[in-house]
Amino acid sequence: MKVIKVETQEQGAQVAFELVREKLEAGGQVLGLATGSTPIALYQAMVTSNDDFSDVTTINLDEYIGLSASHEQSYHYFMDQHLFKHKAFKQHFLPNGLADDLEVETSRYNQILDQYPIDLQVLGLGQNGHIGFNEPGTAFSSQTHVVNLTESTIQANARFFENNQHVPRQAISMGIASIMSAKTIVLMAYGVEKAAAVKGMVEGPVTETCPASILQEHADVVVIVDHQAASQLST
Ligand code: GLP
Repeated sequence: MKVIKVETQEQGAQVAFELVREKLEAGGQVLGLATGSTPIALYQAMVTSNDDFSDVTTINLDEYIGLSASHEQSYHYFMDQHLFKHKAFKQHFLPNGLADDLEVETSRYNQILDQYPIDLQVLGLGQNGHIGFNEPGTAFSSQTHVVNLTESTIQANARFFENNQHVPRQAISMGIASIMSAKTIVLMAYGVEKAAAVKGMVEGPVTETCPASILQEHADVVVIVDHQAASQLST
């Protein structure tokens, strides 16, 4: 696990974008993408670049259950606003939060992941150490699955909704094993709220209590943090 400390999110986005570029130049064709406020600066850098992504397939980590692609708080809508409507890609995959049969939907997504192995996965980090929507306690062996969101994640995401009651209680998320299958992983974390999760991820024991700690066992992970997020690290 390589840890890179940056001064600002914009700097972090530039570092992440260079890694994306290197991967695509080396022949990578599939990007795993994340939502949340953390990757916005990266998507901004991609949008304002002259780079051509028209051969690139994207696969998103997760989606709320019960929200349509056109709902302003759905992750599908988020991706359209921040990236997809500005840049042409080959194709996009996101979980369908309105699927009638969630079991069929999770296996459809697992098949997509088998068919399009992810070359580089972009990740953010939850305050409790979650990646994607894999909350503490999720099995490291998990593939795409239905998740009951924890109270702390619901609270953390409530700022995007009218109030707490409007935050969906469930999501579909790629599992930990699905994330670990990506050839390269680039995780960004900023701000003091992420400091404890960063510490657990980088220096803590590898435990399902801190889902991101499994990344210590991946051969090619770059963690990009600002000084606040890095503030509990020993080095
Ligand atoms: C949500 C998303 C995660 C994201 C996390 C942190 O729970 N499912 O993919 O990493 O929020 O969000 P933020 O980047 O806004 O702090």
